[in-house]
Amino acid sequence: MRTLILTALIVTAIFTSSFAAEAKSLVVVFSRTDENYNVGYITKGNTMILAEMIASKTGSDLFEIKPEKKYPADYDTCIDVAKKELNAKARPAILEDKDVSEYDTVYFGYPIWWGDLPMCFYTFIEGHDWNGKKIIPFCTHEGSGLAGTERKLKSALKGAEVMKGLAVRGSTAQNDKAGAEKAIDSWLKSLGM
Ligand SMILES: Cc1cc2nc3c(=O)[nH]c(=O)nc-3n(C[C@H](O)[C@H](O)[C@H](O)COP(=O)(O)O)c2cc1C
Repeated sequence: MRTLILTALIVTAIFTSSFAAEAKSLVVVFSRTDENYNVGYITKGNTMILAEMIASKTGSDLFEIKPEKKYPADYDTCIDVAKKELNAKARPAILEDKDVSEYDTVYFGYPIWWGDLPMCFYTFIEGHDWNGKKIIPFCTHEGSGLAGTERKLKSALKGAEVMKGLAVRGSTAQNDKAGAEKAIDSWLKSLGM
């Protein structure tokens, strides 16, 4: 009898813990420091500011995509390098990788570069299986908004559900943190997150 009760207790404990386990979420971000449009020289990238807020508000882990070859600090030179990468559909090597298999929900944060995601973001995307995951994009920009990147992500992420994205001006993220936070709060609320 004692063995039976003990077995029942163990089975209940296993079931309770597995059902109570919270869905894990991750913020993947690429963001550049140094000289940028409208903000001068910055030590924390505009998108990184949003990424940290989103990770803290949603209790998500945070992973930063770092290209093996750092982008030029000078804005104009960086613009040229990024344009060449876009035209060549380059997939620049990145320094570290992150196992995303344990995450159900993944936030993608990126600056708009020439109306697209930076090519190093595709390097990361193409190295993983996104089937069945919920992807929530957010970007910073200086006028283009999301620039059709939700659609681009939908075709790049086979089997994933791509949610409505958030676009915030980089200069707002950098210089008006309260404004950026307000935008994040209402966006997360609209997504039910
Ligand atoms: C290479 C490059 C290309 C850019 N292209 C665009 C663009 O097409 N549209 C736009 O609105 N902003 C563009 N910007 C501005 C960035 O999207 C904006 O400054 C962003 O906030 C930078 O984010 P970060 O600090 O996280 O890298 C570009 C900036 C760079 C450096």
